[in-house]
Amino acid sequence: MDFKNKVVLITGASSGIGRESAIEFAKLGATIVLVSRRKGKLEQVADELKKFNVTTLVCQCDVSKKEEVKKMSKLVLEKFGSIDILVNNAGFAIYGSVSDLSIDEIESQMETNYFGMIYCIKNFLPSMLDKKSGHIINVASVAASFGLPRIASYCASKFAMLGFSEGLKHELKNSGVGITVVSPIMVKTNFFEHPSFENMPFSPTSLSAKTVAKAILKAANSPRLEIIVPSVVRSAVWMKNTFPYFINPIIGKSFKK
Ligand SMILES: NC(=O)c1ccc[n+]([C@@H]2O[C@H](COP(=O)([O-])OP(=O)(O)OC[C@H]3O[C@@H](n4cnc5c(N)ncnc54)[C@H](OP(=O)(O)O)[C@@H]3O)[C@@H](O)[C@H]2O)c1
Repeated sequence: MDFKNKVVLITGASSGIGRESAIEFAKLGATIVLVSRRKGKLEQVADELKKFNVTTLVCQCDVSKKEEVKKMSKLVLEKFGSIDILVNNAGFAIYGSVSDLSIDEIESQMETNYFGMIYCIKNFLPSMLDKKSGHIINVASVAASFGLPRIASYCASKFAMLGFSEGLKHELKNSGVGITVVSPIMVKTNFFEHPSFENMPFSPTSLSAKTVAKAILKAANSPRLEIIVPSVVRSAVWMKNTFPYFINPIIGKSFKK
């Protein structure tokens, strides 16, 4: 796909997968809108993108706050008219059992990971539909297919993201606008810097953020609902959906201390 003259908006662009995606899209000449809460970090990413000679816009915005998303989208649409690719990537997890997490901690994951995505889609989809083109990429996780112990509320937010995307995909048929979910396994990023992960009994080593960023680029032009990274994990999802009574006890045992 030719990304020159395309406007790509990435939430959670200050770090990890979002930052790497910004770099990969910029390499291909896209205009990049960088969105997250930490303006200083976004400005550092924008500085890094200067070498690719692309237009960038830094937008400080907490996606869990619908008024902030409304304000941010107004600014972006006034500047560019519309966007071509929306990457809903902002997200986080708090590690802990349902008994140990507070209701506020459980809600906060849903507010950012799920409602943050909804607010962005609600504000940017109308302009995509008007011009009958565009693609929404929602960064979920394999946790959208497996309910895992001690990240139950995070899994719920990603299951919700996948279900919403599946429903919306049907609605978008023949509209010219596409939607694809990118679901990676564990990725080496600051995601695991949240203090709650100190209690995780296994080490979070796996994919690089760059590998996931490349899948996000692929998703921008994909007719598929979900791209699982790495693709070999698709078979595990298939096994779980086909033989849940066999697979779920194994999953539960391997993720529990
Ligand atoms: N790392 C993994 O193992 C893994 C696996 C599967 C899926 N994922 C998903 O990948 C996405 C990116 O995570 P990552 O691994 O790249 O982690 P990361 O390095 O911690 O990056 C998370 C990004 O989300 C932003 N963010 C968090 N809350 C936000 C909010 N309320 N409003 C706006 N931006 C917010 C952060 O920016 P600010 O702090 O500047 O706001 C940061 O840029 C997440 O949705 C995560 O669930 C990660």
